[in-house]
Amino acid sequence: MDKDGLIKVSIPVVGEEEIEAVAEVLRSGYYVQGRNVKKFEEGWAEYIGVEHAVATNSGTSALHIALAAADIGPGDEVIVPPLTFFATIEAVLHQNAIPVFADIDPETFTLDPKDVEDKITDKTRAIIPVHLFGLPAEMDEIMRIARRNDLVVIEDCAQAHGAEYKGKRVGSIGDVGCWSFYATKNITTGEGGMITTNNSEIAEKARIIRSHGMTSRDDHVVLGYNYRMNEIQAAIGVVQLRKIEELNNIRIRNSLYLIDSLRDIGWMKPQKIPDYVRHVFFWAPFLVEEEKLGMDTKELVKQLREKGVEVRHRYREPLYKQTMLVHKAAYPRGCPFTCPYYGKEIEYSKVYLPNAEKVAGKLIGLPNHPKLTEAELAKIVKVFRSLIANP
Ligand SMILES: Cc1ncc(COP(=O)(O)O)c(C=O)c1O
Repeated sequence: MDKDGLIKVSIPVVGEEEIEAVAEVLRSGYYVQGRNVKKFEEGWAEYIGVEHAVATNSGTSALHIALAAADIGPGDEVIVPPLTFFATIEAVLHQNAIPVFADIDPETFTLDPKDVEDKITDKTRAIIPVHLFGLPAEMDEIMRIARRNDLVVIEDCAQAHGAEYKGKRVGSIGDVGCWSFYATKNITTGEGGMITTNNSEIAEKARIIRSHGMTSRDDHVVLGYNYRMNEIQAAIGVVQLRKIEELNNIRIRNSLYLIDSLRDIGWMKPQKIPDYVRHVFFWAPFLVEEEKLGMDTKELVKQLREKGVEVRHRYREPLYKQTMLVHKAAYPRGCPFTCPYYGKEIEYSKVYLPNAEKVAGKLIGLPNHPKLTEAELAKIVKVFRSLIANP
């Protein structure tokens, strides 16, 4: 709870060990690409169950590097979901490729494999399934479609630290996995990211692209960036990684408590969780059935806040409606949309995906972070039960 008595939706959980680890880096005078980055990469690779992990300075840069390392570029189409953080789409555009939206399943809110298949053209090169709110996307079907059509699969795992699909951790199933350690995530380094892969070639390329395309101090062999994670971030990450399972388990317990306690409320529906996944609940997501509630979600969020409960309310619109896409305002002179390698037209204003349209704007995430007390959890339940349209 904050000083005004508001139960916050998210709080980073860091303690004295993280503070000490940062102080140690500062005292050492060694801030870039040192032993903490190496240790965090090795620890993360082991935790996810892959051969390689490459640390970056954000989840967005991880996605950008992954696309570049997989040779996705001008003229290529990449299939993406319409409900995700915009970074998933941004990364595709930064690589001069074209995001093509496929619809979601109306109950899990993750990519619908059938619609992915329908969106494949002769330009399609990759699919980015997003494990939304901590729930793994339908990876078996997506991998089958990808292998049949020779497509690269880049898992956006930014919200799914430790999530599992049929016994495998996400980020180890597709060709590449991309992670974010932004402040609100299940574990955090403030800002930060990671790439995971079993493909040595992609890992090697990712390391080069991450640091100015350099193979040595004087050799720049490909177009690169400064997307490096620093030692301060990595030192926090090493400590957070030691706590990840404990933090995840509390998040899961809190979320399941809320789902269970609110199950009989007719106007809110939890995200469907197939029995073969481990959901790690970046959010405790519910779909608001506005007609049954008799109020729109915006008003609901306002009323909850007035009663002392902050909730997340995203994503308000399917992302193909974002101004940037509707106006195709990416690089100057119309690139990548006018790129001669593409040679096609795409009009985002004409895209209409029925399930995404039904769900967007009506999703709320309840507080579920590991610092919540039993009394706060009970208060959340009580506040939801006190709303007008409740039984
Ligand atoms: C699904 C998703 N993809 C990508 C990102 C981008 O990560 P970052 O903020 O670390 O750049 C985020 C979140 O922040 C995210 O939620």
